[in-house]
Amino acid sequence: MRNKVTKAIFPVAGLGTRFLPATKSVPKEIMTLVDRPLIQYAIDEARAAGIKEFIFVTSRGKGALEDYFDHSPQLEAELRKKGKDDLLEALKSTNMESGAIAYIRQHRALGLGHAVWCARRLIANEPFAVILPDDVIAAETPCLQQMVEAYEETGGSMVAAMEVPVAQTSSYGMLDVAEDHGRIVNVQGMVEKPAAGEAPSNLAVIGRYILTPDVLRNLNKMKQGAGGEIQLTDAIAQEIEDGRPVHGVRFTGQRFDCGSKAGFLQATVAFGLARDDLRDALQDFLKEIMHVDQAAQ
Ligand code: UTP
Repeated sequence: MRNKVTKAIFPVAGLGTRFLPATKSVPKEIMTLVDRPLIQYAIDEARAAGIKEFIFVTSRGKGALEDYFDHSPQLEAELRKKGKDDLLEALKSTNMESGAIAYIRQHRALGLGHAVWCARRLIANEPFAVILPDDVIAAETPCLQQMVEAYEETGGSMVAAMEVPVAQTSSYGMLDVAEDHGRIVNVQGMVEKPAAGEAPSNLAVIGRYILTPDVLRNLNKMKQGAGGEIQLTDAIAQEIEDGRPVHGVRFTGQRFDCGSKAGFLQATVAFGLARDDLRDALQDFLKEIMHVDQAAQ
């Protein structure tokens, strides 16, 4: 019987420079797709996969994130008085059980690997998930749940894998695949942000991981990688060099890179169109502006 994955790390200590000036005072993870902040999508996905402990690696200026998960007695009382049960229900999903949530500070943005390492004492000796909230994945079965199911078959460390065009490999950690079993691939190497044409496959790693505590030990070495940052990819690649298994899962679903402006806008439109209360008005508007745009050309 494998250890169940019950803890997840949410690294949210990055500077979010691509969204400046907004991220000067608003954490990227609090930015909303329709009416829910990015972090809510990540938490819902984690809950669906059986996660019970939520560990946030935060930094200066991320206070709004901590407040988001607090109970709000005054607001709740007001909504109750007005009979707004649907809004009360919506608020419920933001509340965390006492003791289920922990915040660790990353004092300097030294990279994703470093952020994960900051949470090492809360992980102890068990497998754990890592979720990057700026990767939002629309899927019938939530992505992390698909990974937990695959992990129960394989054990070891696991990354979410997505096919990308050759021109985009320099934006991702790319997998070197030893054996391709379709849904699951055995990984024999990982390369961080290779130039177009130099990637070992077209499978990119996106922001969902299930990792063994060995990866945290690899991070102890504080090795700087691509961009001078301490890269999580390097610590996972070390696992392969040490002869321990690493797998990629071709998940089913659509991933939006909400860390980029284009991805965030695409997600906003897609999530808006998925909502019964917004679809018609949004569709009409999109048709209209596409029409105007075409006429202008
Ligand atoms: P990104 O590469 O998107 O960096 O980090 P960023 O700082 O958030 O955004 P830009 O590139 O400046 O616009 C990917 C994830 O890793 C976290 C981020 O918060 C994000 O969830 N991260 C990154 C950390 O927690 N600490 C770091 O030192 C770096």
